[in-house]
Amino acid sequence: MHTLKVSLGSRTYPIYIGKDLLTQSGLITQHLPQKRAAVVTDSNVAPLYLEKLTATLTASGITVTPIIIPAGEQHKDWQSLNSIFDALLTARCERKTALIALGGGVVGDLTGFAAATYLRGVPFIQVPTTLLALVDSSVGGKTAVNHPQGKNMIGAFYQPQAVIADTATLGTLPERELGAGLAEIIKYGLIRDLPFFEWLESNIDALNSRDPAAMAFAIQRSCENKAAVVAADEREETGERALLNLGHTFGHAIEAGMGYGAWLHGEAVAAGMVVAARTSQRLGLLRADDVGRITAILERARQPVTIPDLGTHRYLELMGHDKKVEGGKLRFILMKEMGRAFLTADVSREVVEGALQDSLHHA
Ligand code: NAD
Ligand code: GLY
Repeated sequence: MHTLKVSLGSRTYPIYIGKDLLTQSGLITQHLPQKRAAVVTDSNVAPLYLEKLTATLTASGITVTPIIIPAGEQHKDWQSLNSIFDALLTARCERKTALIALGGGVVGDLTGFAAATYLRGVPFIQVPTTLLALVDSSVGGKTAVNHPQGKNMIGAFYQPQAVIADTATLGTLPERELGAGLAEIIKYGLIRDLPFFEWLESNIDALNSRDPAAMAFAIQRSCENKAAVVAADEREETGERALLNLGHTFGHAIEAGMGYGAWLHGEAVAAGMVVAARTSQRLGLLRADDVGRITAILERARQPVTIPDLGTHRYLELMGHDKKVEGGKLRFILMKEMGRAFLTADVSREVVEGALQDSLHHA
């Protein structure tokens, strides 16, 4: 097992990464302030891992309140959030009753938001079960629900007590979900870690075939990158954390525009990173062969590298709800060069429209 740390002063917490951690009771129970917990999971993950986690907890004398929400991005909404509150209130969960998020990013984001607001804040623990959640969403304390007008528009920064990343859960993950997680892994290379990007270029086939050693390295390196960025700019105030949003301005527009759940988050981020690369190319920052490297690795991870034709007007309308908008002006995460992202408001409408057009079809 590897243990990393997200260093946030008094809110510092560990990320435990390893195989079969769900069965290690001490790992979880040391972070529970009382002998009961509520486990929030979804309808796909419940039949796979709820019983296993519950058995681990009950063996240590913990009483478990299970809460199961419907699976899928289309359910990351107020209704699911309210169903969590209803269940917590019905079971009379208290301020010291920790919430345990067992699932992917949807369960993690919803449970984190419920924990931030139930009784004005209760402890929570992330137990990620998708590759995307292991390498990104379980770390850093961003919690949210979607709004029909925009992705993740309502939420809170609220850090977990611990992240328990059991890599054995990846054994049941569908191929398409694995690919979506690889997109977020590739993102770290492009933002701030060129050696990692180069390693990914050499090892993407091993990751596609779930090679345990390659997977363990990719997860650890991703979490190290994420933990460093979060520690430097927890609440996205200096611009550093905003870099983790590479591809997201365009990607969130795809997710909302196509209807939540039609494109997986990672898929939308993959196509969005291609638009960001083409925008950078139009500004003379990236060369055509850099963009070629980016599309090539994403394609090898079975990710989309073209965007759906929502119309430029609709893209700009949807992107107007981006959380990075400041003074009514869109801000973008682009690449200065391979492995170095930056935040800028200095992009003309023509350049963005051109990059969107470039990304409708494979170059
Ligand atoms: P998800 O939670 O919808 O999970 C994907 C699918 O896999 C679901 O159907 C789920 O039921 C199923 N599943 C989960 N674990 C499984 C397993 N081990 N075996 C079989 N099936 C399993 O989606 P996701 O890709 O994990 O997360 C996407 C969400 O995360 C988006 O809402 C995105 O906005 C959010 N996100 C948040 C952050 C953050 O910092 N908070 C970062 C990135 C993404
Ligand atoms: N996934 C973006 C962030 O955590 O900031």
